[in-house]
Amino acid sequence: MTDLIDLNNIHLTLADKAVLNIKSISIPAHQCTLITGRNGSGKTTLFKVISGLLKPNRATIEYQGLTLPWKKAKPILQKDFIYLHQNPYLFDDTVLNNIAYGLYRAGESKAVAHQKVMQALDWANLSHLAHRSAKQLSGGEKQRVALTRARILSPRLLLLDEPTASMDTDAKQQTSELLQRLKSEGVSILICSHETHTIDHIADHFLHLENGELTPASSSKRTSNVTVLNPSKKSI
Ligand SMILES: Nc1ncnc2c1ncn2[C@@H]1O[C@H](COP(=O)(O)OP(=O)(O)OP(=O)(O)O)[C@@H](O)[C@H]1O
Ligand SMILES: [Mg+2]
Repeated sequence: MTDLIDLNNIHLTLADKAVLNIKSISIPAHQCTLITGRNGSGKTTLFKVISGLLKPNRATIEYQGLTLPWKKAKPILQKDFIYLHQNPYLFDDTVLNNIAYGLYRAGESKAVAHQKVMQALDWANLSHLAHRSAKQLSGGEKQRVALTRARILSPRLLLLDEPTASMDTDAKQQTSELLQRLKSEGVSILICSHETHTIDHIADHFLHLENGELTPASSSKRTSNVTVLNPSKKSI
């Protein structure tokens, strides 16, 4: 198993409170890691640090053969990783244009961008939403559109913050299938979720965050598969 990224000595204080105190976390490439933890345990904060969106007090990043302080790694993390918020932001336009936006910014022509978006929507079984207003979508539809938008940008790591929260059973099932397919396509995935029963079967590694500290987690169904990431480093 190869690690995509290792983060060491992550410390973050917010409003005088130590929110993260993590000796080391290693995220395996092409696999799915599930992080559980109570409300306020620091999951979202950790995801923002890993995706280059929130500056920790300190952290060292080992990525692509380089060891960098977080500040130097920040632009690389922002370019290569995509953090998907629990309530993804979609602007007031069609689904097609929302998904195409990143491609336009990357310099893709309108015709090519639209072709790629239609293929991606087909992949997600969402072709019927292409010309709908993104603002009118349900929460579950928005999440799957945001997942499609993230996939089209080919991130090296997809960080999903509660991807199935407030979804009905069908939407959870469809999202879970999309995540399974993303994983089989080789995308590295980091998920935090309270819905372990929905995500359990996709995850290869299980971690638990409590008061800003990581511990190995037990899956409700797969306790035998609990894995301490990078155990040789005594990482947590
Ligand atoms: N900007 C901020 N200023 C001060 N404290 C903050 C800030 N953002 C988060 N916190 C605190 O940091 C802690 C961790 O918050 P975080 O959102 O990471 O938790 P979480 O595990 O994602 O929770 P949830 O399961 O509810 O989404 C909480 O105690 C929260 O109140
Ligand atoms: Mg959160």
